[in-house]
Amino acid sequence: QKTVFSGVQPTGNLTIGNYIGALSLWVAEQDKHDNIFCIVDLHALTIPEAITAAGLREKTLDVAALYMACGIDSDRSLIFVQSQVRQHSELAWILNCVTPMGWMNRMTQFKSKSENVETIGVGLYDYPVLMAADILVYNADLVPVGDDQRQHLEIAQDIAQRFGNLFGYQFTRPEMLARKEGARIMGLDDPTAKMSKSSSARGHAVGILDEPAAIMKAFKSAKTDSGSGVDLSQPLSPGVVNLMAIYGAFTGKTRAECEAEFDGAGYGKLKTTVADAVIAGLTPVRERFHAIRGDEAGLRRILDRSAEAAAARAEATMVEVRQAVGIG
Ligand code: TYM
Repeated sequence: QKTVFSGVQPTGNLTIGNYIGALSLWVAEQDKHDNIFCIVDLHALTIPEAITAAGLREKTLDVAALYMACGIDSDRSLIFVQSQVRQHSELAWILNCVTPMGWMNRMTQFKSKSENVETIGVGLYDYPVLMAADILVYNADLVPVGDDQRQHLEIAQDIAQRFGNLFGYQFTRPEMLARKEGARIMGLDDPTAKMSKSSSARGHAVGILDEPAAIMKAFKSAKTDSGSGVDLSQPLSPGVVNLMAIYGAFTGKTRAECEAEFDGAGYGKLKTTVADAVIAGLTPVRERFHAIRGDEAGLRRILDRSAEAAAARAEATMVEVRQAVGIG
């Protein structure tokens, strides 16, 4: 059985981009693998201006409840909070020491997030190394993520290899697992920009927990193009392609099936049909979320139990890593 590792930062409001690109993929693959799903609260500290201590604690529990509401089964998969397993931070430090600055300087996400900001923390720069530690400390085989994490996954592979060359302990090379359609859901207001949970622009994102009326409203105002409906004799515009990708993810239909279904349909019809599918898919998730989040003691028990199991596995790796580098 392959080991799967993935995580989400407990910041902002999780969107259908997170759901399609990551959470729903974890659920779809859950039965095939040995799964470890993490709420990466240490990563959320990399933009300290965006959090408060109380807010981060709440959000961390929210995201854990959301994992379960989306269908992650705590009897089959580990669901735990990153900061509860200290081995992540320990390995991150060790990996810091073997990661060339030159590789880090090429990370595009850091470049875009740090633009024109003098007070950016070193942690934001170092973010990909902590992510590599998350994955490598479990010797994970597969990392199901959206397309925006590709470069981070590649640096994790490179760090694993360099560590092996320097110290003779070879981590498992982690492979990225992504959807063919839906690995990059775009903003409804601007189909050239990735849908992001940290954006507050109106009409940009649809939250996993949004109410049906809000979902319908967001889709009705989605940007398409100057035409009036789907015309397959012309190349489809990015906004239309995005709506079809969302529809495909929520209905299980292929791109070709979606195109055939909407050929000749007006954009109004396309938007409301997609919205209906999203509402139908998310309504049970929202209901389960409120039930799970309402039992905070039960939720904490699951997180504690998972953290203990995760720590035991991480520690087994760290014993070998410490031995290889000569510490501990
Ligand atoms: P985060 O919290 O930004 O996003 C969580 C997951 O959602 C995916 N995603 C998307 N997929 C499709 N379309 C979108 N518009 C979209 N937006 C986000 C992301 O690709 C991701 O899979 N660095 C990670 C968290 C992390 C992690 C890890 C992931 C930390 N350590 C180890 C995997 C393994 C992040 O910030 O994700």
